[in-house]
Formats: sequence, structure tokens, C-alpha cells
Amino acid sequence: MKNLLSMEHLSNEEILHILDRARDFENGGKPQLSRSYNIANLFFEPSTRTKTSFEMAERRVGCTVIPFDASFSSAVKGETMYDTVKTLEMIGMDAVVIRAKEDEYYNELLEGINVAVINAGDGAGQHPSQSLLDLYTIQKEFGTFEGLNVTIVGDVSHSRVAKSNATALTRLGANVRFLCPKEWAGEFEAFHSWDEVLEDSDVVMLLRIQHERHSVSKSFSKESYHEQYGLTVERENRMKPDAIIMHPAPVNRDVEITDELVECERSRIFEQVRNGVFARMAIVETILKERP
Ligand code: NCD
Repeated sequence: MKNLLSMEHLSNEEILHILDRARDFENGGKPQLSRSYNIANLFFEPSTRTKTSFEMAERRVGCTVIPFDASFSSAVKGETMYDTVKTLEMIGMDAVVIRAKEDEYYNELLEGINVAVINAGDGAGQHPSQSLLDLYTIQKEFGTFEGLNVTIVGDVSHSRVAKSNATALTRLGANVRFLCPKEWAGEFEAFHSWDEVLEDSDVVMLLRIQHERHSVSKSFSKESYHEQYGLTVERENRMKPDAIIMHPAPVNRDVEITDELVECERSRIFEQVRNGVFARMAIVETILKERP
């Protein structure tokens, strides 16, 4: 694996290898890198979890993390993504982790760039490291993906998390359904009522409304979104006994999910954040191992 750009590029074997290594790391396993590598995190969109989680993971596998602040970089002077990454390569970077608002920004890096590129989110495209940590969370819970009913709820068409997970989970044998307003289904077929999906879901995965990616916003008041698509206590009570709640976060409490459910028994929302460090250690190690 030279880069990590999209879940669509990963085979099931590659996915399962990363999940195995994540588990090894969680159990105290040591990184298998033969030297220290230089890595920079280029975040052109806001991030709390993904950026700090990558940084923690990079340090734990022995990388030297070179600080990069996108808002003070020459990108604000009009430098292209290609020139920015090429510059970091010449300075001595082995890998860059990038989040940007353009879908498939990485296409302009595929030729002429020799650092490894790890996609930490491209617009409404893909978010493979989030998907891998979500898969790891589901695998820890159920031991398998085969036959699980996974319901992804909310702003499906603008969500890179929904797309990455739908690709991977379907390929691994899960039954992925979407619950969202018609306007947000995009390329997918979707249900529009909780009654059709709630009681047989093994995983309910909630999404934040991606206001920053809406050109024309389907306007919902917080209250009416919560009423139609939010996970309320009444709905949570109707879930299967061992079903879990996931959300990539950031959470808008009382919009996608009732405040008091965020840390309820079946919520894995903060556990996902914890698992993210192990999954990203596995990602960074797998990619850097291929570089002499
Ligand atoms: C997600 C993202 O940035 O796509 N967050 C994350 O990385 N955990 C989801 C979101 O912003 O709603």
C-alpha cells in the first residue's frame, strides 16, 4: 500500500490486515518500522479528532512529526497543492496526511510526487481512516461484518464518512441501509422513516449535517430534524438489545442524537475516538513499511 486515498482502492485483505494490526497495537504490540520517518499533517479544513489522532499515532509508531499549519502556509498565497507537497518532499518528508475541501484533491498528486499520501478527508468524497476505525469498532463488537444491518442516518450525500463506510461494509458482507431526507440520499436509495430500519439494526451510525458542503441547504430547524431523523430516547429504547450507536463526531447534541444518549451504554462514540489511534498506527505503519 503506497498511499491511502479511498476505501475503493483497498482490497478486503488489505482492510483486514490493518484491522489486525490495530488490534495488535491495542494489545500492546510494537511497531515494525526499521527507521524513523518524517511526516507532516496538512489540514486545510477544521479538525479536532482526526488531526490529533494521526499525530498521536505517528509518534507512537516512531515518526518525527514536522509541524505544518495550513492557515499560515503558502497555500494562502495561492500555492497549489502539488507545489506544497513537492516542497515538503524536497525538505525530507516521507509521508503527508492531507485533509482538503476539494473532492479527490489527491489526483493532482498522483504523478511527480514521491511522498506517501494519506487522505484524511477530501470534501464530500472519502474518509478512509475514519472508515477503518469504524470497521475496527464494529469488528471488536461483533467479531464479523457478515449479515450485520448497518443503518447510516442523516446527510448521506455530503458525507465522506457515509461513502467510505458504505463501500467497505458492503464489500465485507454487511447490509448497509440509509435513512435520510430524499434530498440528501444522493446516489443511494434511502428509507425516510425510522420505523423501517430501527428495530433490526445492529449498528446505527449517525452523521452531522454538513452545512459547509450545502450549496442550497434543505432547511430544517434543529428541532424538526431531531424529531424526524434524530436518535431520541424513545427510539433508542426500541433498538435491539446488543445494537450499538456510532457517530464520527463532532456531534451536535440534540440534533442528530439526544444529549443524554451520547454516552449511554450502547454508544461507542468516544470509544471510536480511542480506536482511531490504533487504526491510524496500523495505517501509518503499513504505508511506511513499504518505503526503504
Ligand atoms: C468527520 C469528517 O470530518 O468528515 N469527522 C471526523 O473526521 N471525525 C465528520 C464530520 O465532520 O461531520
